[in-house]
This record gives sequence, structure tokens and C-alpha cells, in this order.
Amino acid sequence: MKWKKQVSTLSAYKPGMTSAQVKEKYGLNKIIKLASNENPFGSSASVQQELANSLNTFALYPDGAATELRRKVADLHNVSPTQLLFGNGSDEIILIISRALLEPGKNTIMATPTFPQYKHNATLEGAESIEIPLLEDGHHDLNGMLEAINESTSIIWLCSPNNPTGTYIPQKDMEAFLEKVPQDILVVIDQAYYEYITEEETSYNGEWFNKYPNACITRTFSKAYGLASFRVGYVMGSVSIIQQLEPVREPFNNNSLGQIAAAIAVDDQKFIESCRVENSKGIKAYAEFCQKNELGMFDSQGNFVLIDVKQDSDVVFEKLLQKGIIVRSGNALGFPGTLRITVGTEEQNIEVMQALTEILGLG
Ligand SMILES: Cc1ncc(COP(=O)(O)O)c(C=O)c1O
Repeated sequence: MKWKKQVSTLSAYKPGMTSAQVKEKYGLNKIIKLASNENPFGSSASVQQELANSLNTFALYPDGAATELRRKVADLHNVSPTQLLFGNGSDEIILIISRALLEPGKNTIMATPTFPQYKHNATLEGAESIEIPLLEDGHHDLNGMLEAINESTSIIWLCSPNNPTGTYIPQKDMEAFLEKVPQDILVVIDQAYYEYITEEETSYNGEWFNKYPNACITRTFSKAYGLASFRVGYVMGSVSIIQQLEPVREPFNNNSLGQIAAAIAVDDQKFIESCRVENSKGIKAYAEFCQKNELGMFDSQGNFVLIDVKQDSDVVFEKLLQKGIIVRSGNALGFPGTLRITVGTEEQNIEVMQALTEILGLG
């Protein structure tokens, strides 16, 4: 068959073991899954109530314009409804943007290590990925990224907070960067973990997108909102960017239940605030643990921490798995010797730190 050449160079996404598989393999009763930066507190209680009332609409196509969700998100961020496009997770937004802008002969600039889907989609579209190493402290090398721009550059990806380091780009640095990027390059700011940021108050609204018309921001309901299984993400940007992306989107890419769940979840900002507070306590606890035990940890504004365990992290990962704790080994994330651990509930965090103390032989 005449497959696209690029497809043969890519591997399929390898999911980690599910909780059920780990339970069965090691004969465990309880699993703590902290591998995918999901919300350990679940989602707003009101989502469950509302969904129970919506279980009789399966025969109908979803609202292809996501009208109600669009209205709620537009109000939340003070943008016009025409400045939004919804996707089947922000993964699909990344795909749509790549499909609209990348092709052989074009290139796209991103940090490394960062979220792998930017490069994956670029490869699929036959475009070149220019990867600029993170600075030693885990931050994006914004100057290095600016220097890498050439006339074939179509997209620059900024992941903030960055997966897997958790490091974040302050709004003023983002704006200084945007001032220097040529207007015909789209800068995509992936803020999948935006709701967890505590370092500063930021404001990205309709006016902001007028000021920076070649920037767009992606967000998701998979993380702080606790709705990963529904697959709802979105991109906000100038009306002209959204209009160019719309034809690439499939007509019914957001399912009905996902739209309902997300629209309800937006109303419960108290839940989001409480998750932000709890998460930030968890990050602080991990930072203290690392400091006490002389383990390296990047400054994280996400809901996960990347810890240098100073050993083969695949081995430590496996030992945690045997105790029913699922995390991610940094070996697969471009940071050998580290573990990426989703911040859990206080109880879960304590269990993880106790397990690490035992496994790493800490004092
Ligand atoms: C930085 C970043 N962007 C995007 C995503 C995709 O999230 P989703 O497709 O669930 O919205 C993730 C998921 O882990 C992520 O870490």
C-alpha cells in the first residue's frame, strides 16, 4: 500500500499499564495512579448530577458548534464566542493547527523535552521540527527559539506550564517574546495546566488577542476540571485564526456528553480554586521532601513534579508499581533518572513519599 512516508517513521502512543492491569499483575487491592496528570479530586459534583439527566439523547448528533459550552467559556475568559474552537481534547487542537499550517518544506519550533504531540503531528504533516533544548532550570530558551526562526517557520509551540518539567513562562516574558516574532508565524501557547498556576495573576482575554493577533492559547478540560475521559479542549485566538482553523475541524468532533459536562464544570470555579490550593500544597510538600533528601526537582506550576531520583528511573518506577503506585519514568520523557509524579491528594502524596524513602534508601 502507498502509506505516507512519514507514517513509517512514527510509533504509536504506548499507554502505560492501567490500574486494573497493575492490580492483577501484582495481586494488589489498591492502586494510586499518578501517571497522567489527571485530577485526583475528580470533577465538580454538579457534573455527575447533570449527566444523569442527559442519558436519553444518544441517537442524536452533538451540537457541532458546541453553542452552550462556547457561550460559557467565552464568558469565563471574556473573549468573543467567535474567538474559540473546540476539539476532542487539546490533542485534537494540536492536530488541527498542525494540519492547517504544516507541510513539507515548512518547519515548526518547539522546546525539548516538551509535550511530544507537537513533533508527532509535524512529522505526520512532513514538516521539520526544530527543537530547542530547555535551559538548565527547565525553562524555555526563548532567545534560542527566536534565533531559530527562518522564512519557512510556520508555528512556534510554547508549553506553559511545560510537560514534563512543570516550569512556566510569566506573562510579561511571553509578551516580550511575541513582540519579536514575525506576524506571519503562529505562536501556540499550550496552557493545559493553566488553572494550577499560582505564581501570578494572568490575563489572557479578547483584548489580549487583539494585541497579539498571531498568538493563540490552547486549554483543556482534562486536567484541573477532571474530565479527561470526555475529551474536551479548546483554542482561543483572534477571529481570523479561528476562521482559518474551522474548516480543518470535523463537523461533530465534540460529543454531547462532553459538551454538557464541560459546560457544567465551568460554572463551578470554586472546585477549580480548591484543586489549585490543594495542588499547590502538594507541590510544596514534594519540594520540601526533595530539599531534605537532596533530590533535584524543577519548579512546577502544573499538577505534577519531575524529581531527579539519581538512579535508573525505570527501576524505581517498577518498584513503585509493585507497591501499586503508577507514575511515569523520565527515561521515556527525555529526562533519564527522573520520575514525573502527578500531585495527588495529601494522603496519596504522603504514601508516594514514604514509598520513595524506602525504595531510594533515604534517611
Ligand atoms: C502540555 C499538554 N498539552 C496537551 C495535552 C493533551 O490533553 P487533552 O488532549 O486531554 O486535552 C496534555 C496531556 O497530557 C499536555 O500535558
